[in-house]
Amino acid sequence: GNSPEAGPSTLTFPELRHQLAQGDAVAEGHRIQVVLRWGDPILADAPDFDPRRQSAEAQARQFGYNNDYLDFFPLPRGSRASDHGLLVVNHEYTGAAQMFPALGEGSDGARRQRVSAEQARIEMAAHGGSVVEVRREGADWSYVKDSRYNRRITATTPIRLSGPAAGHARMRTSADPAGRQVLGMLNNCAGGNTPWGTVLTCEENTNYYFGGAAAETGPQAAHYKRYGIGREAVYSWPRHEARFDLDREPNEPNRFGWVVEFDPYDPQSVPVKRTALGRLKHEGCTHALCPDGRVAFYMGDDERFEYLYKFVTSRPFVPDDAAANRDLLDDGVLHVAQFAADGTLRWLRLVQGEGKLTPENGFHSQADVVIEARRAADLLGATPMDRPEDVETNRANGRVYVMLTNNTRRTAEQAAPANPRPRNTHGHVVEIIPPGAGTAAVDHAAAEAHWGIFLAAGKPGVDPGTQYHRATSQEGWLSCPDNCAFDSKGRIWIATDGADDAAGIADGLYAADTAGAGRALTRCFYQAPVGAEVCGPCFTPDDTTLFLSIQHPGEGAGSSFEQPSTRWPDFVEGMPPRPSVIAITRIGGGRVGGSET
Ligand code: FEO
Ligand code: CA
Ligand code: CA
Ligand code: CA
Repeated sequence: GNSPEAGPSTLTFPELRHQLAQGDAVAEGHRIQVVLRWGDPILADAPDFDPRRQSAEAQARQFGYNNDYLDFFPLPRGSRASDHGLLVVNHEYTGAAQMFPALGEGSDGARRQRVSAEQARIEMAAHGGSVVEVRREGADWSYVKDSRYNRRITATTPIRLSGPAAGHARMRTSADPAGRQVLGMLNNCAGGNTPWGTVLTCEENTNYYFGGAAAETGPQAAHYKRYGIGREAVYSWPRHEARFDLDREPNEPNRFGWVVEFDPYDPQSVPVKRTALGRLKHEGCTHALCPDGRVAFYMGDDERFEYLYKFVTSRPFVPDDAAANRDLLDDGVLHVAQFAADGTLRWLRLVQGEGKLTPENGFHSQADVVIEARRAADLLGATPMDRPEDVETNRANGRVYVMLTNNTRRTAEQAAPANPRPRNTHGHVVEIIPPGAGTAAVDHAAAEAHWGIFLAAGKPGVDPGTQYHRATSQEGWLSCPDNCAFDSKGRIWIATDGADDAAGIADGLYAADTAGAGRALTRCFYQAPVGAEVCGPCFTPDDTTLFLSIQHPGEGAGSSFEQPSTRWPDFVEGMPPRPSVIAITRIGGGRVGGSET
């Protein structure tokens, strides 16, 4: 039965009130446990965390900074265990002001900071990803410190390049004349997984790490500009390591901005950058199985006026045949979305030799198309979106949900069907309906689909153009959707990033039904500490635990290692705030969010 407070929603938890506080909060009846914090020793030989005496060697063995994407891989492999598994975690970026007790000269306390060579090495070791064995005993989650599965991937881990761009002249550097192996992955934001049991982790704002005069004067200047690469890097890395200096290694940036695949169950496995999926500012990459066994992967390019993409494998997924599935992501068709006012969506093919993707336009091979995926999509007439973040399929109804986080630069003239609001401060969620959605045979490979707007964020009755269920409460509205997840009942859980700036409320996690009388009735379930965003929502298979990534607590103007705006989650004097993974469970057990039926 529905609680009186929840109205028509099947989500019966008591709603939180909006706040902005040093601590976090979850709906009554639930419990928050901190499972993994920045600096926690992960590998067997890792030292304990001491943020005042940190080293790159220690950091490379400890949990990295700014956890973002989360995925749970049950143990044993192939089971549906919900009390034991591997957490795969992205470490998107580092924030020097919160990480280091004293910064080098030139720091402005914001993201663009000058750090020492050793601090830059620590930053590199704090990037990438972690795989960590976790276990629930009774009601308590903890991680296994010396697990043989535990792994760190950093900005210097060897990664193989595969697909159309591998080996191409534009991928070659002095350290890698063959253009087939790159050191590290950068700015891994969200991700996804595959039906064959691997994880996908996605490189997003890789322009932050590169700089040099060639950004303005070099032969690739226009290409760099299209990807946001400028003369001055956000990070100090070009001053400390030659490969980040465009004037010395002009092709190194082409080796970042990809979807990376690896097997989380094998700590020795070499991660692979799958270039067939295109080079973008990738938010995530999530899959949907087609009736004929082919697999579609949905991807957002998170920047204002960038596009929504879909990759469809050429060959079908073959259950229980690892060899057949190993390189499925090297062979397929990349598409980009074009939204029409009549509610249809066309998926345009990014294939060299088709349409305008010809040598006359600089596309001599599919390598050129994937390296310059953005320019290829421009030529095809793709629809510029309001920052496409997570794109996820709801298995309960076959529909696909696109988080469009915000775009304050869209003008009234640029308002268009799928992005209807000028100065879109709060973002919206688009719902895509592929052919066959709602049946057992949803055709995610189809060239066309239908679309509509699921919700338009902001405060109802105050912000123009909001769209929710009419019973959405004064606490239930949200701002800046970024990641989402679906529980096994098909209810959507939306994590936000930027609500503090956009709306003066903490970032949080909101849940809503996607069907029935409570459709799009969002309710506030969790709120992050000040400065933090919420990312990586991930349920165990039985929905009794919800893992969340709480990223960059205490970030923001005037907040620093010594004088942070919060010391979450430890609240120990002298300890800086620590990005952390939390587990949320129901007190006494049961489905997170309520309603067992
Ligand atoms: Fe790293 Fe698109 O958020
Ligand atoms: Ca993030
Ligand atoms: Ca994100
Ligand atoms: Ca974001």
